[in-house]
Amino acid sequence: MSLSSLDIEQFRCIEKAHLELSTETNLILGKNASGKTSLLEAIFLMGSGHSFRTSQTQLLIRHGQTCFTTVGKILNKQGMEVIGIRGSEDSREARVNGGAAKSLADLALRLPVQVIDPEVHRLLEDGPNRRRRFLDWGVFHVEQGFHDAWRRYQRALRQRNAALKAKQALNALRVWDQELSEQGELVADYRDRYLEALQPFSTQLGHELLGTKIEMEHQRGWKRHSTLRDALGDSLSKDQLRGSTSVGPHRADLVLKLADISAKDRVSRGQQKMLACALILAQQAHRAAIGASPACLLLDDPAAELDVDNLGKLLKIVTTIPAQLVVTSLNKDVQNFFPHARLFHVEHGTVQAVA
Ligand SMILES: Nc1ncnc2c1ncn2[C@@H]1O[C@H](COP(=O)(O)OP(=O)(O)OP(=O)(O)O)[C@@H](O)[C@H]1O
Ligand SMILES: [Mg+2]
Repeated sequence: MSLSSLDIEQFRCIEKAHLELSTETNLILGKNASGKTSLLEAIFLMGSGHSFRTSQTQLLIRHGQTCFTTVGKILNKQGMEVIGIRGSEDSREARVNGGAAKSLADLALRLPVQVIDPEVHRLLEDGPNRRRRFLDWGVFHVEQGFHDAWRRYQRALRQRNAALKAKQALNALRVWDQELSEQGELVADYRDRYLEALQPFSTQLGHELLGTKIEMEHQRGWKRHSTLRDALGDSLSKDQLRGSTSVGPHRADLVLKLADISAKDRVSRGQQKMLACALILAQQAHRAAIGASPACLLLDDPAAELDVDNLGKLLKIVTTIPAQLVVTSLNKDVQNFFPHARLFHVEHGTVQAVA
């Protein structure tokens, strides 16, 4: 799958833009504040329904305007499909091939998109939420049953939490425990299986990018040798006090280590970035190995935080990863790594293809 064209109106600093993208590599060059990251944000929106920089729609609308629109044409095995997103101050609406999208999964299935931006090190520094998102991006795109199990789990969790908050009787709580534990175990099993499949790719990329082994440990969100049903029973009185469910895959984490050293606390910022890049690239390599179609990979200002050697190592590997690439840079030298890239120049929100 790849994004073959993108039309943007009134998005961030961009009044209007049209880009015909290469299915392979695209390079967007421009000075600070020209609109490079905004273009990647618009692409990311096509495959996820949200921005990677903010959850507030009004920040995406060009100053002085009331709404933005972005329309992308996606080329996939079925032919051409069209995704459209329109955001106003109080709503955001997604359309697929002219009809309303049923859920954000409708977008993600059509355009798997991942981003490596200057904030990528936060995969290690932030709380577990970001790591679960990383993990679930991979699982969602390779395990067909995952989305349904996760959706059912979330619904049962919301109901159980509402019952806990309302201090309902034990019987009312237990109604949800069966669905919660069945779907929760499934979600955790899907995650376990995915990580096992990802491991050889992350190990190889860890060696290539960091010269050492990356270790990933999935903490399921409850004690490993207990069933979720038992864990829910054990935490019942605590959950009744808190008014929410304290065990389950919504509390999972992915512990990351570099040669036994905790990646969060004892690894430099540059190494954290290389580690996060290795994991995201491993996801793309794994997709290719199982015959999944290439995703769209956005690389925003890859030089940030990296010395010349590390930047060289990263970009050399990026060029071998099967994905549609959209790279932004302040520096024209990056072109040396992507001699066949389709080039765009952006200035004050105006985008031009460079012949
Ligand atoms: N809603 C908005 N309306 C108009 N302009 C905006 C809006 N949001 C951000 N901007 C401006 O858009 C400009 C481009 O921002 P963007 O982050 O895309 O630049 P960039 O080319 O990635 O810069 P850098 O190289 O510094 O990362 C900035 O001047 C920013 O202040
Ligand atoms: Mg930027």
